[in-house]
Amino acid sequence: MAPDRGPGEPAEAYAERLQRHLRWQDAELARLRGRLAAEGRERPGGAAAPRCCSGCGAAPLSAAAALAALLPWPLYRLERRVLEQGRGVDAPASMDGQAALVTGASQGIGFHAAAEFCRRGSRVAVTSRKWPKASRAARELADMAGRQHEAVTPMVLDTSDFDDVRRFAGEAKKLFRRLDVVVLNAGMGYGPTWPTNTTANSGHDLAYATNFLGHFLLVRLLLELLAPNASLVAVGSAAMWQGKLHQLTPKTRPRYDKWVYGQPRPMAYANSKLAELCFVKALRRRRPALRAVAMAPGRVATALLGPELDWCRGRKWLDWCGDPQTSGRLVFESAFVSETVAPEFLYPYAFPRLLFSSPVSRYLPKYAWWWPVRLMRPTFGTLHESVAPHCGVEAQERLWRWSANATAAPAWPA
Ligand SMILES: NC(=O)c1ccc[n+]([C@@H]2O[C@H](COP(=O)([O-])OP(=O)(O)OC[C@H]3O[C@@H](n4cnc5c(N)ncnc54)[C@H](OP(=O)(O)O)[C@@H]3O)[C@@H](O)[C@H]2O)c1
Repeated sequence: MAPDRGPGEPAEAYAERLQRHLRWQDAELARLRGRLAAEGRERPGGAAAPRCCSGCGAAPLSAAAALAALLPWPLYRLERRVLEQGRGVDAPASMDGQAALVTGASQGIGFHAAAEFCRRGSRVAVTSRKWPKASRAARELADMAGRQHEAVTPMVLDTSDFDDVRRFAGEAKKLFRRLDVVVLNAGMGYGPTWPTNTTANSGHDLAYATNFLGHFLLVRLLLELLAPNASLVAVGSAAMWQGKLHQLTPKTRPRYDKWVYGQPRPMAYANSKLAELCFVKALRRRRPALRAVAMAPGRVATALLGPELDWCRGRKWLDWCGDPQTSGRLVFESAFVSETVAPEFLYPYAFPRLLFSSPVSRYLPKYAWWWPVRLMRPTFGTLHESVAPHCGVEAQERLWRWSANATAAPAWPA
């Protein structure tokens, strides 16, 4: 387990200590492997050497272990509904004449989601906080899809700055007559190196303002632009399971520089993603025609992971990440879930509902949402109707009022 950050320890010092710790872990692993190889119990490459089992009782043990490892997959696959093209997902082959907006599409998941829309002939608006990044991404996307550069509109948007969200919405209204799909993807978290600034211009926590509040205001401002049956995908995170409903509407700005279960996953991110989910649930109630859905991409190899990225890529089975291309496609598909009662939360893995919606869940530690991801790797690549944390109507409405007030959003039409 990674070491915790000491009280008052500067971010740089902590990052260095973390790196040292990772290097030490690698060295330990190599040393152990070497020892096992010397004893003939493991091949130097890491794969276990065949062992003689006669009389040692290892055969029944490994058979039991293999069974235990294989059991969850069919179980979860049966339990969770798989949604794919032609089976609950109805993505059009051509989106000619349609328009999509993807926030935070300069890189990572957003970029690859925008690529899917672009490939199908949709006009796409891609945003970044920086103009050069936005225009470079737009050019790349158009080239990749073999389309005219005008097909992809680069735009500047900082979702943590509410004045900028207002300016952006005004510009979008001039550029687009209608939006068929909106993907709320722009997001950030605090990695192992705590940033020097965690306060948005409005005084709110930066991650909370970026991931949730800015998007809340944006949807309100673009409401008139949305096609009657438009799709809205909020790119959430399974970290929302760690969020706390009562922290979504604080009276004063909460202190978020705490670590959860020794993991670099401060509550700001978890709460912002839980708030996004409550927002989607409220939108679905208030605007049934709008096909709103929350989707979590799972752990994906993007810049968002910061120093964890190499760690994640390096340990393919122990600690695994999906790729941004597949995640982008899944975000795209999430916009076209054609179920009559569309699921409110989608996940790229078959997620064990049993764990969370049964009495068993009461006895599980909260971070238990994480371990199935490793087991469920074979199910990555298709959407699954999944389980979202509870956020009742009362909590949704409280958050709605609080956010409207915090962002000074115009009154939502009844
Ligand atoms: N990667 C994962 O493991 C993972 C897991 C669960 C959920 N997610 C979610 O997936 C979404 C995309 O993340 P990613 O993994 O693709 O990360 P990424 O590669 O870091 O991309 C983040 C995008 O968000 C934009 N962005 C950041 N702060 C912004 C702000 N204040 N205003 C506007 N745009 C901003 C960035 O644009 P500029 O820097 O160009 O402005 C960038 O395009 C996020 O919502 C994230 O929470 C990711």
